[in-house]
Amino acid sequence: MESFIGWVGGKRQLRKEILSHFPADGVGRYIEVFGGAGWVLFAKEQVAGQLEVFNDLNSDLANLFRCVKYHCEALQTELDWLLHSRELFFDYIGQLEAPGLTDLQRAARFLYLVKHSFGSSTRTFATDAKSGEHLRQYMPKIKDRLKKVIIEKQDFEPLIKTYDRPNALFYLDPPYVGTERHYSVQFGEADHERLAAVLKGIRGRFILSYVDVPLIRELYSLCNIYSTIRINNLAGTPGKKTFPEEIIKNI
Ligand SMILES: C[S@@+](CC[C@H](N)C(=O)[O-])C[C@H]1O[C@@H](n2cnc3c(N)ncnc32)[C@H](O)[C@@H]1O
Repeated sequence: MESFIGWVGGKRQLRKEILSHFPADGVGRYIEVFGGAGWVLFAKEQVAGQLEVFNDLNSDLANLFRCVKYHCEALQTELDWLLHSRELFFDYIGQLEAPGLTDLQRAARFLYLVKHSFGSSTRTFATDAKSGEHLRQYMPKIKDRLKKVIIEKQDFEPLIKTYDRPNALFYLDPPYVGTERHYSVQFGEADHERLAAVLKGIRGRFILSYVDVPLIRELYSLCNIYSTIRINNLAGTPGKKTFPEEIIKNI
């Protein structure tokens, strides 16, 4: 199935190729470390008895996934209250930056911003009129898919250490080198190095998506690296039509 939202750097286009690298068996637990919109998680088959984890350090994103999972109908009702206008779009941004909203009110505003912004950036008002009807019908399916998925909001390092086992498969899609500014959660060169160090010591298997740049080739020189291409969907980088990407594995 598909995700219910777009996301900056989301793996909508590459999800099938990424899944083709997944091991056929021996995966007792699947952990999506940099969840975003969860395009790979939603595309992946559910396996009986397999533990699944969705994680993202962005608290609005983790809250949205929790609200869809536990309060799907109430979230839809909350969405029905939101009016569609450029002025309100920017009001909702301001409301999310202040305390005082309930989790459901936050989730509805955040979902509105994702749905009505250019490139799902949550910052720029998209003027096309999108119907909420498809989302209304689709959200219950997302709720069902998330039924047994554990939703976490942690930094990648403690998360990986918590779930690491020999039968674990981690899929990782961190902010890419040079695109970190598109995310509200800060991620810098030290974090790219920290991630490589954590992955070096794990007992489980990992599959990692990255942009193809020298720093990443150097950090993962001992791993298997496969080259691929992604169409550019990042707002604010109009000159570039495609990005060279890598799929990096310790298997
Ligand atoms: C490229 S996006 C993931 C896109 C996702 N694969 C999809 O298909 O939609 C990277 C995500 O990493 C999250 N993130 C940034 N720093 C993090 C950290 N230290 N730990 C966990 N998640 C983090 C961001 O909030 C962002 O949603």
